[in-house]
Amino acid sequence: MKSSEIRQRFLDFFKRHGHVIVPSSPLVPANDPTLLFTNAGMVQFKEVFLGLEKRPYVRAVSSQRCVRAGGKHNDLENVGYTSRHHTFFEMLGNFSFGDYFKREGIKYAWDFLTQELKLPPERLWVTVYKDDHEAADIWLKEMKVDPTRFGYLGESSNFWQMGDTGPCGPCSEIFYDHGPGIPGGPPGSPDEDGDRYVEIWNLVFMQYNRDASGKLTPLPKPSVDTGMGLERISAVQQGVHSNYQIDLFQNLIRAAVEITGASDHQSHSLNVVSDHIRAAAFLIIDGVLPSNEGRGYVLRRIIRRAIRHGHKLGATETFFYKLVGPLCQQMGDAYPELNKERAQVERVLQQEEDRFNETLDQGLRILEDDIAALKGDTISGSTAFKLYDTYGFPVDLTRDVALERNLKLDMAGFEREMEAQRERARAASSFKTAEIGAVTVDQPTQFTGYERLNDEGKILQITRGSDLAQTDNLRAGESGNIVLDRTPFYAESGGQVGDRGVLRIGEALFRVEDTQKHGAIHVHQGRVEKGQFRAGDKVTAEVDAMLRRATVLNHSATHLMHKALRDVLGAHVQQKGSRVDEQHTRFDFSHSAPMTPEQITEVERRVNEQILHNDDTRARVMDMDSAKAEGAMALFGEKYGNEVRVLNIGDSIELCGGTHVRRTGDIGLFKIVSEGGVASGVRRIEAVTGPGVLNYLYERENKLREAAEMLRASPEEVPRKVEQLTQRLKGLEKELDQLRGKLAAGGSKDLAAEAKEVKGIKVLASRLDGMDAKGLREALDRLKDKLAPAAIVLAAVADDKVTLIAGVTKELAGRLHAGELVNQVAAGVGGKGGGRPDMAQAGGTNPAGLQAALDSVPGWVEQNLK
Ligand code: ALA
Repeated sequence: MKSSEIRQRFLDFFKRHGHVIVPSSPLVPANDPTLLFTNAGMVQFKEVFLGLEKRPYVRAVSSQRCVRAGGKHNDLENVGYTSRHHTFFEMLGNFSFGDYFKREGIKYAWDFLTQELKLPPERLWVTVYKDDHEAADIWLKEMKVDPTRFGYLGESSNFWQMGDTGPCGPCSEIFYDHGPGIPGGPPGSPDEDGDRYVEIWNLVFMQYNRDASGKLTPLPKPSVDTGMGLERISAVQQGVHSNYQIDLFQNLIRAAVEITGASDHQSHSLNVVSDHIRAAAFLIIDGVLPSNEGRGYVLRRIIRRAIRHGHKLGATETFFYKLVGPLCQQMGDAYPELNKERAQVERVLQQEEDRFNETLDQGLRILEDDIAALKGDTISGSTAFKLYDTYGFPVDLTRDVALERNLKLDMAGFEREMEAQRERARAASSFKTAEIGAVTVDQPTQFTGYERLNDEGKILQITRGSDLAQTDNLRAGESGNIVLDRTPFYAESGGQVGDRGVLRIGEALFRVEDTQKHGAIHVHQGRVEKGQFRAGDKVTAEVDAMLRRATVLNHSATHLMHKALRDVLGAHVQQKGSRVDEQHTRFDFSHSAPMTPEQITEVERRVNEQILHNDDTRARVMDMDSAKAEGAMALFGEKYGNEVRVLNIGDSIELCGGTHVRRTGDIGLFKIVSEGGVASGVRRIEAVTGPGVLNYLYERENKLREAAEMLRASPEEVPRKVEQLTQRLKGLEKELDQLRGKLAAGGSKDLAAEAKEVKGIKVLASRLDGMDAKGLREALDRLKDKLAPAAIVLAAVADDKVTLIAGVTKELAGRLHAGELVNQVAAGVGGKGGGRPDMAQAGGTNPAGLQAALDSVPGWVEQNLK
């Protein structure tokens, strides 16, 4: 049975049992800072479990794309070493939202496995949570599962949670026994981690919500969340023992063999590469791009890990992106977006691999300089960390280089730096949740801020201080969070910042410094300036109208700009992120080249044209299908329910929950103030509107005036004056360069003249004491130009250490290797080095041997020149 058929049978089976088929959500969870990636089928239903969101169904079934590479569930390091772990996989799951519970959950699972898929019950093992006698009774008495293949397990295996916070509950797992030929023991035994007994299905009985302090609160209604890995059940159905032998993977592995030229077809690196191409491609499709932090960083690690394994397999050139084609063939039918975005995915992967190769070169150079300056024989952990962190240079490579040079590497120091960084990352990623704290209110906030900026509401919850402890009152001087039943305060979302303003009760005043969203609940964050606020009090909520108005101009202009960008640059432009506040709008979008000045002007012109049209804004709530039919643009990273808000502003039409102008003319004027790259394939525009444009122009005018004064010219004359100055400067720089060149080439000493002629090439081996590695490199480059064809060695001694650099001009490629040349001299000064065929560096600790070593160079070249 093919994987695609199993996927379909699963969906159909549950559909027959009253479940609604819900499409997979993206890998980047919408509006959820607590989670790195969608790591289970239940993620898109999290708020439904919590009772914060209502859906028109109580039973659902899905095949969800998941990534477990970072965060609470992380299998990255396992991939390649077991036959059942992946970074990317598909999870089949059925869900009950307060409808059926344990009995039906268990029965559906058992029936699907034993009747629909006809798995022999004697191959199946079952575990339940240690205190869950209810589930145990159902399995043993009703399903009549053999008690010898049944067991109780503790929290770590049989209590499931999505992340450190969120819905969770006891679970029951079903295992498949691949037979005695495979190493491994049954669940709960010491060697359960082998591949013989594989967990295929997890049934979670969702009962609690865990808050940031670890406390469990019962959910409004007990629910069911299940997950079965498609790759694992396919392995069972296809009679193979490894997920990597199923149909989905076999073709990918074959492609990987061909593309890397691998000779060992059993190498686990093939599994790594074919697993990682899936994760990388789907992450890119879902809007993640390689970067140095957060999700982008995980993607970068996955790609680089794949590239390293590709090199191990034998790849010699950029190869990883070539697997996108075979992946499309394999999965393009189930995921049409894969075919659609193929070119973009290939581009990103190719760029990232090229960049990684550059990084390797750059990192090696930095490491050489560091080694040359080393006192002692140990490369420090902080050097290795800096290389790793700033240049993406893998620590195993640093270790390889250290080994080659008989040096040690302080791995413990490196690990300490890594741990400190992980700590910083943890602090950064849990920041938001910590700020909001636990929210106990279970009714969505009624938001009235589209129509009004003042309203009345009742206090439902108060938390106090930086630890956000629950309290029932807040007094003057105290800071905390307040939740109301109804508010005109917009809570940060869709890129628009939260409103500021005040809450009042008579004279009492709470200054709202920010409004954040927790699910559908608006949380007012701030400080009591006067009087006190108590749970149950009625308050007047007043939004700071000036700030809101300025923000609104920028938000509406963002929609017009988004539309103009797509018209001017093409439909590949997709929003990658935005931040709109009262000062400006910052908009990130996919586009691979810098915008030309003409394109920028054209975008500005189009937006301003829409502003002048002064059309009415229209906001309508409709169902998702009608919105799509109208051509509304849905934005990346946003979560949409079944009912969506569609905004027509000028010629733009987008789904958006934000606040906007009534007419486009309200925006006044629009001006782009900067355009630049933020990551590979992503550009960022910053723009201003209304009075912001005027301020921008004043600032510019002042700068121009200042410049004119310095040039003793009128503003009109500035360009001509600058041109004159630049010309003069160029002349001076040239002169300076010539002088510097003379100096670097040995000051008064004419080094070039010292070169000897050997077999028709120039050979020079000379000492330039006092110069550092960089200076030597520069001198080398100049001498190469002057003497070519030539072989050159330059040396400098400082603090009893010798720095050596050797170069061979390009005509001699294949005839003489700079690495061998440098080592010839290094051997005489007690050192060793390495590098490229045309340039190599080394160090040594015995200056006494230097002169003789240099003198030996012409003879050595004579013997070794091919
Ligand atoms: N959410 C559960 C899991 O991922 C089903 O195992």
